[in-house]
Amino acid sequence: MTTGLPMTVADPSLPARVRIHEVGARDGLQNEKTAVPTAVKAEFVRRLAAAGLDTVEATSFVHPKWVPQLADAEELFPLVRDLPVRLPVLVPNERGLDRALALGAREIAVFASATESFAKANLNRTVDEALALFAPTVTRAIEAGLKVRGYLSMCFGDPWEGAVPIEQVVRVTKALAEMGCDELSLGDTIGVATPGHVQALLTALNEAGVPTSRIAVHFHDTYGQALSNTLAALRHGVTTVDASAGGLGGCPYAKSATGNLATEDLVWMLDGLGIETGVDLAALTATSGWMAEQLGRPSPSRTVRALSHKE
Ligand code: HMG
Ligand code: MG
Repeated sequence: MTTGLPMTVADPSLPARVRIHEVGARDGLQNEKTAVPTAVKAEFVRRLAAAGLDTVEATSFVHPKWVPQLADAEELFPLVRDLPVRLPVLVPNERGLDRALALGAREIAVFASATESFAKANLNRTVDEALALFAPTVTRAIEAGLKVRGYLSMCFGDPWEGAVPIEQVVRVTKALAEMGCDELSLGDTIGVATPGHVQALLTALNEAGVPTSRIAVHFHDTYGQALSNTLAALRHGVTTVDASAGGLGGCPYAKSATGNLATEDLVWMLDGLGIETGVDLAALTATSGWMAEQLGRPSPSRTVRALSHKE
């Protein structure tokens, strides 16, 4: 019999608090083959907020043909926008920004690629054409008083191009930072990173003038490295970590992308380290269990499974 919580043994060299940027309702559901009704998505977002997640990425205002799973953004957002949490939404261009602004979104995220192949697959643009698409979008969003996050995909490896040179990642991260993105989320879209690589990229970014305080990490767990990579980032001073409830996710335009780091696995580790997150692990696990029932398959999260089988 376990208590449902790890024993806490703090590591004073790590941050005291971590902000979890929950992406399950967007990064998770954008990749689901099962159609999820809008009301179920809204309930998912509400339950995530009630479990103590203070940033819940809600949906994307992208082209509905590109991501049909999130084509109901106009219906969904009004159902959740009054929740007392941060509700960022993805927008790829000014058209997406207009749609988000019309519904009262207060935070957006643009999403660049470190590689040409993924920029083409995900945005139908070269890397620099995509940056040119974002620049006026970010400027207008800032003028409208919105917070802007810049995602960068394929920071550690790319399914078409293989290893991605660190200088290439630094160049595009700097471009997003200079454009005005206040937070930069480094995506290991296909989950190939290892901790030394994480450390090397963070150091290179610092040397290029990007401070750790603006960096978030976004790991996928394809090779079981997401938690080790997160710990490497925490040791470097990163305090914002993206994760997806129940480990939902992938990317519709990167076939080898499997689930994101599961929020429950992350919270188990952070609770054990005595790092504050504000998240109630039992409520979160119940939410992911409920979502797994809606999707008709078990959660891939080890923590969700372990806690669900607890006597
Ligand atoms: P395109 O086909 O090049 O579009 O797609 P376009 O700019 O040529 O416009 C064509 C038509 O689409 C026009 O309509 C536009 O108005 C319309 P028409 O004049 O022909 O009637 N359009 C739109 N409609 C609704 N909303 C919009 C919009 N924009 C244009 N926002 C585009 C370019 C960027 C639109 C497309 O490629 C797209 O929507 N891509 C999104 C792909 C996506 O969402 N991928 C998943 C998110 S990224 C990710 O998951 C990775 C991440 O998690 C981090 C990680 O793990 O690495 C963030
Ligand atoms: Mg992702």
